[in-house]
Amino acid sequence: MTALALLGGPPLRTRPFQPWPQFDRAELDALADVLGSRRWGGIHGGSQGEVFETELADYLQVPHAAVVANGTAGLMIALKALGVRPGDEVIVPAMTYLATATAVSLLGGVPVFVDIDSATHTITGSSLKGAISEKTKAVIAVHLGGHPADMDSLGAVADTYGIPVVEDCAQSLGAAWNGTQTGSLGTIGVFSFASTKNISAGEGGAVVTHDDALAARIASLRDHGRPLGGTPNHPELGWNLRLSEFQSAVLRIQLKRLEAHLAVKAKGAAFLALALSRLPGLMPVPATLDPRVTAHGRFSFAFTFDGEAFNGDGYNSTSPGAFRAALRAEGIPASTRGLVACPDEAVYADITSRDYSSSRTVSAEQARVACSTLVLLGQAAGSGLLLEGPSELTDVVRAVEKIHENRIRLRQEQRRPARPHVSSDQ
Ligand SMILES: Cc1ncc(COP(=O)(O)O)c(C=O)c1O
Repeated sequence: MTALALLGGPPLRTRPFQPWPQFDRAELDALADVLGSRRWGGIHGGSQGEVFETELADYLQVPHAAVVANGTAGLMIALKALGVRPGDEVIVPAMTYLATATAVSLLGGVPVFVDIDSATHTITGSSLKGAISEKTKAVIAVHLGGHPADMDSLGAVADTYGIPVVEDCAQSLGAAWNGTQTGSLGTIGVFSFASTKNISAGEGGAVVTHDDALAARIASLRDHGRPLGGTPNHPELGWNLRLSEFQSAVLRIQLKRLEAHLAVKAKGAAFLALALSRLPGLMPVPATLDPRVTAHGRFSFAFTFDGEAFNGDGYNSTSPGAFRAALRAEGIPASTRGLVACPDEAVYADITSRDYSSSRTVSAEQARVACSTLVLLGQAAGSGLLLEGPSELTDVVRAVEKIHENRIRLRQEQRRPARPHVSSDQ
C-alpha cells in the first residue's frame, strides 16, 4: 500500500490537469486590437461592449443584455431596478456564494435565508412559499454549480404572489431548463465573468431581461443614473459599473468557445458521476439529472462525502476536510471554495461584526450539512479538470481509491492535534 501524499508518500498525480481559464491567440489579437483602437472604455455605438451585449442576448434569446463590472454589481443593479429599498426583504438560498446575500444587504435590504433542496443544492417553490412576507420584494434563485434551480415550481409560486425572480446565473452560463437558457427564465438574469466562470475576462458581469422598462433602468444604473443614449440628465442615482473594452473583447471570443466547452465538460462529468458513485460514501449532486435540466453549466462537478459510509467499519469517520486535503495532496484539485451557509457568516451571525447586517433565517439545515460534506471539482476548484477525457479523469478515481486504502491511517492522523494540514481546507 502506497502512503498518502498528505502523510509524506508520493502523490498519485504530478501532472497538472488542464488550466482554467482557457485562451488562445484569438484573445491576444482581440486585446491588441482594443489597445490599438485607443477606445478602452466608455459606452459608445459599435463598442466591443455593445457588440458583446448583442451576441450574449442572441445566445440567451433575450432582447436586452447590459455588461457590468462584475456579478455582484449586476445583482445590486438588478435589485435596485426592481425597486428594492432599505428594509425590503429579498429571499435568497441559505447556501450560496455570499455575494448573492450581500448584494441585498449593500442596498439596505434584508436577505431572508431559505434552505436548499438536498438533492440539487438549489431552492424550490415550496421553500420560497414558506418565506414570503408582506415585505418580500424579490427572490434570487441561484443556479448553483451550473445546475438550474426548479424554475417551474419557483415561477409558479412567484407568479401567485407577484414576486419578481432574479436568476443568479454567475455559475450557470449555458445551462438550460426545459430547453430555455438560465438568465432568460425569470424577471432578470445576472451573470459573472470572474476568473473561474464559464466565460471569463478576469472580472465582469452582465444583466439580462425581457422587460424593456427594466432594461432602461439597468442601463442607467450602471452609468451614473444616465439614461442610455447620451443625455446629460441624471434623473436617478446610479453607479459607474461599466465594463472595459478589453474585457468585452475577450468575452466575445470566450463566448464562441462556450458550447464546445460545455459539450466536453458534460462528457467529463458523466464519466465522473458513474465512476465515483461506485465508490463508498461518495454521492454526486444530483444523484441523477432531472430531465428538465436540458443543459448543465458544469461550473463544478459536486459530490457529497459521507465519512462513515466511506470507512464502512463502524468506527470514527473520516472528516470531509481531511478527505479534501488528502485528495489535493494526491494532485486532484478539490475545494468547497466560496460556498457558505450564509446565516452563519459573521456579517449575519455575529453582532460584534463591524458590518453586522440584519437578515432573517427561515431554515438552513440542509445548507449546513451540504457545506460541511461537499467536495467540488472543476472550475470551482480553479481547474479545467472537466475538460479532460477518461484517461486523465481515471486519476481522480485512483486517488479516491488510494485514500480509501489508507483510511485507517488518515483517521488516526486527523485525530492528532499537531497535524493541522489534515483538516485544513480551501
Ligand atoms: C453564485 C454567485 N453569485 C454571485 C457571484 C458574484 O460574482 P462576482 O464575483 O463577479 O462579483 C458569484 C461569484 O463567484 C457566484 O458564484
